[in-house]
Amino acid sequence: MKQSINFNWLFVNGFEESYLNEFPKNCEVVDVPHNVKNVPLNYFNQDDLQGVFTYKKIFDVNEFHSDFATILRFEAFMVEADIYLNKVNLGHHVSLYNPVEIDISEYVKEKNNELIVVLSTKENPNLPPFGFVMDYLTFGGIYREVSISTHPRTYIKKSLIHAGYKGEVDINDVIVNPDNIEYTVFHSVFDGDKLIFESNSNNFKVENITPWDLDNPKLYRLVSKLESSHGTDIYETRFGFKDSEFRVDGFYLNGTKRKIKGLNRHQCYPYFGYAASKSLQEDDANIIKFEAGCDVVRTSHYPQSEHFLNRCDEIGLLVVDEIPGWQHLDKTNEIWRNQHWKNVESMVFEAYNHPSIIAHGVRIDESADDHELYQKSNEIVHNLDKYHQTTGVRNFKKSELLEDVYAYNDFVCNTLNKGLEPKRKIFDEHDEKPYFVSEFMGHMEPTKTTDTELQRLHHALRHATVLNDFYKYEDICAAIGWCAFDYYTHIEFGSGDNICYHGVFDIFRNKKYAASIYKSQQDNDPYLDVLCSFKTGDYPEAVFKKVYAATNVDYVELYKNDDFVAKFGCDNFEYSDLKHPLIYIDDVVGKTFKEEKYSQKDRVKISKALSSVALYGLVNTPLKDKLTVATMMFKYKLKYPDLVEMFNKYVASWGGKANEYKFIGYKDDKPVVTKVYGSNNVHKLDFKVLKTELVNEDTYDTTKIVVRHVDKNDNVLNYSNLVINVSVKGDIELLGPDTVPLIGGTTTLYIRSKNKKGNGTVIINSTLGTNSFEFLVK
Ligand code: GAL
Repeated sequence: MKQSINFNWLFVNGFEESYLNEFPKNCEVVDVPHNVKNVPLNYFNQDDLQGVFTYKKIFDVNEFHSDFATILRFEAFMVEADIYLNKVNLGHHVSLYNPVEIDISEYVKEKNNELIVVLSTKENPNLPPFGFVMDYLTFGGIYREVSISTHPRTYIKKSLIHAGYKGEVDINDVIVNPDNIEYTVFHSVFDGDKLIFESNSNNFKVENITPWDLDNPKLYRLVSKLESSHGTDIYETRFGFKDSEFRVDGFYLNGTKRKIKGLNRHQCYPYFGYAASKSLQEDDANIIKFEAGCDVVRTSHYPQSEHFLNRCDEIGLLVVDEIPGWQHLDKTNEIWRNQHWKNVESMVFEAYNHPSIIAHGVRIDESADDHELYQKSNEIVHNLDKYHQTTGVRNFKKSELLEDVYAYNDFVCNTLNKGLEPKRKIFDEHDEKPYFVSEFMGHMEPTKTTDTELQRLHHALRHATVLNDFYKYEDICAAIGWCAFDYYTHIEFGSGDNICYHGVFDIFRNKKYAASIYKSQQDNDPYLDVLCSFKTGDYPEAVFKKVYAATNVDYVELYKNDDFVAKFGCDNFEYSDLKHPLIYIDDVVGKTFKEEKYSQKDRVKISKALSSVALYGLVNTPLKDKLTVATMMFKYKLKYPDLVEMFNKYVASWGGKANEYKFIGYKDDKPVVTKVYGSNNVHKLDFKVLKTELVNEDTYDTTKIVVRHVDKNDNVLNYSNLVINVSVKGDIELLGPDTVPLIGGTTTLYIRSKNKKGNGTVIINSTLGTNSFEFLVK
């Protein structure tokens, strides 16, 4: 039986021997997940995160039997800890991103157990990922949940289950059996609550199953029941029937080849770093799958929360997991190397039953070759998990390939014309071994939501350039962009403010244009985002030059002030190897030019010329269009004032009356999506609440309010830095400061439940008014 012990820990900065006997009176009461120091949004002293901190927890054991095994489990703490229970030293434990389990059977009592954790959050160079500089920041604390579980002394630690998409099941029960007694294990497979198969064998076939797939991620339950003279122990896990394989010619899921695109994820959040509870972990998976339309995520650069993986299982988001590290490897330090191997083993063991996992990344991200280190890493995986391939990420070509799949960070995209290099240029075994691109973009073009529109567009187009090549090269199995969310980093990296602005979403998970490129490549929801706000004044020379629609519809129609302009699609594609090429909007005048005095044919020509002036400006209008104007002046005896009038009516950019541009996207000739752009005088706050009911289960629950300053068409006003004041009442708390400016027209407020059922209210005040939100804590 599992019992969570996450609420009401005592916490103090520092450690003295006396704390083991008497905890300081001035301690704080905190709940887990916990971050030892919250940070401002940016510009903080990263050294402040490094230190020693002490936690204490008093707990009773709900299901206490003196002859049972009691296991204390930390899902993760950063970095290492000396742990004491009832004054007994339980040893020194390294966690980082791994769970730590300690058998406390000998020392635990039924009531009033006193657990003390002396935690060092220091970047210990003896432990990966540390040892040199690194482009990500770690946040100290008991940042994932803690539990105790009680079992008969002979028990199932885990049933490692592999289930193929044709129904074959292979189970490896990992049994703890200290007295070496006889036992039996019986397996039952459930579809929801319905028992569909039972067996005392570890290998069997279940008929009529639904495979786990990206669009239908069907999950089943395995219940393993162990009987021994010590009693009955039950282990339960979810699983899916799935086979995945990277092959020389591409990636196969359940025997079908599919190109998989995705993003890398760092797990940090604004203010509270790594200490994010279940709902936020799940929310990240949802954002990557549904807001960015991705098929795959890489857990760069460390194993991530179980809640994140669970959610990937539930929604059909594939995962390449990865051990902790960043470029540095220690060739001689045995402690460091052993920890690396432990990290590999722990990652694979924890990930095993998640159908979303498709490969295990066993190399330190972008490290040099190290035959001994990586040969053993591969062996560890292959001994434990024969169903998933190994991979490992390099930033150089032709490295020694000990893994099953070559992975490479391809940063060749230094212009809008270069996306990816072909596979054959990357490694020698390219004819025999599979290949995927584990990163691209990132530092090639850091981009903030506050940057100019042109910058944000350029960032998006470079992602499009790379994805275009990905779809072009059949034999690149996957392309995983750097990265999903802006993330905290050491000052040596990023923009010098402790943030790397490499995300297609910002650190608050609010989208940049680049996210639309990914989203437009999926088929599930009709999607249209025109990558232009039609505010000429934000563009050099007050002209847009190129307007693109990131969309998966068949074609779009444009209306200017409700007047039909033109239809775009088919022949207007750019980035044409993309699954859904971008639609290039090259006419903003079109049919709105209806002047009767010109012949039908000339109307088309003049309209085209005017559109060029609108898109490129007078000076850069193509010569052909300039000549059209000259010919028409001559033919229709037009004077300069006639041209000015036409300009004002059909082009008028800088300072002209604001136009409204409406785009309607069609699929199978039916309108499926409408977007409207252009300046208007409506400026209001829009709020999206993740959920209004917070449920305290294993620990506190967290929700978020996404605040967006928008116009009347729901377009974000990117340059708004409106200040909002937040006050919170009742049984909830705000995670983060209570006075914040919007950044890029948006921010996100994070709200957690207190350890108590009840209600709470969040009140948001700004010059635009007062809004309040009610929450229920269950
Ligand atoms: C890669 C590295 C990532 C990140 C990225 C920035 O080299 O693997 O962690 O630093 O560059 O583009």
